[in-house]
Amino acid sequence: MAKQAVKTDSRPLTEEGDFLQIKAVDHVHFYVGNAKHAMYYWWKAYGFTPVAYSGLETGNREFASYVLESGQARFIVSAPYSPSSPLASHHMVHGDGVKVIALEVEDVEKAWKETTSRGGKSAWTPREESDDHGIYRTSAIHTYGETLHVFVDRSDYNGPFAPTYRAITDKQAESAGIAAVDHIVGNVQLGKMNQWVDFYHQVMGFRLLRHFDDKDISTEYSALMSKVVQNGNGRVKFPINEPADGKRKSQIEEYLDYYLTPGAQHVALITGNILETVEKLRRNGVEFLRVPDTYYEILPDRIGKIDEDYKAIQELGILVDRDDEGYLLQIFTRPIQDRPTMFIEVIQRHGSQSFGKGNFKALFESIELEQQRRGNL
Ligand code: FE2
Repeated sequence: MAKQAVKTDSRPLTEEGDFLQIKAVDHVHFYVGNAKHAMYYWWKAYGFTPVAYSGLETGNREFASYVLESGQARFIVSAPYSPSSPLASHHMVHGDGVKVIALEVEDVEKAWKETTSRGGKSAWTPREESDDHGIYRTSAIHTYGETLHVFVDRSDYNGPFAPTYRAITDKQAESAGIAAVDHIVGNVQLGKMNQWVDFYHQVMGFRLLRHFDDKDISTEYSALMSKVVQNGNGRVKFPINEPADGKRKSQIEEYLDYYLTPGAQHVALITGNILETVEKLRRNGVEFLRVPDTYYEILPDRIGKIDEDYKAIQELGILVDRDDEGYLLQIFTRPIQDRPTMFIEVIQRHGSQSFGKGNFKALFESIELEQQRRGNL
């Protein structure tokens, strides 16, 4: 692949350049050790509603699976019944993590042809599954590590999620206001970031949005580099991180040591009211990273006037950043499984379409404190 083929440009792609015509992130599929527990976690801690189930009772002899939704965000959690399942070997290597980032398209065959003809590696050819609810169409390609992009067309399907899944009707959730997936970040190995940026540009027609180098994202000890690619309509944003040299171990290296391959580092969930969302999540037991109080001493001077109350922001440990388009509020959880791998970000945007560059230093110092506690710095 050509080096430096991608130019930084935040304008939407033309129809011609946006050959995939992705409508949105359809779902994020986690392979986990215990799907029932994971369902309970997203339901009770994050306020997702369990909407569908697949398992032995529905004719699925291989794995148990739950679909949960909050606004437009849709998470699937699945766990194998037997050690011979591919889900079991995936879980043995990686622990809990994201296996599939599914993208809704109009034509899964076209999406598969366009991507594989440009060098994407096929995971499965266009396929149709059907039941009483209609036809569910998918195709899939590989991306970083063992992660897949599944293309989904559900326009002829009106079931609760996909064939073998049946509706869950007895579980109500107390919503925390999570509205959609904002972005999903991938961690790749040292020196591989540009290769994956090129993959998204050339194979999937994404555009390079912004990039940060190790001067932006470094602390005394560790560093990372990051570039952001987005699809034509801007609804799908994938930052890609690689470790950069530092005195000590980068947080990206720690991830790679425990996930063992590249993979999804965090899913950012957008809310229209981060104060309410984070207050609920905290009450439900979600653990967030905390930056030192000194961060808040200079915050009003750095950010200026905002709609939210600075005192409430500090109490909840929320971070704020501003760019020329507006500002954003964000907060990051601790890893959500035992291995220090995947975590969640909650974000609210007021005009700003960036990713909180001004918070990186304070945030990474707080991450490193936690790495040190784990003996991994
Ligand atoms: Fe993020």
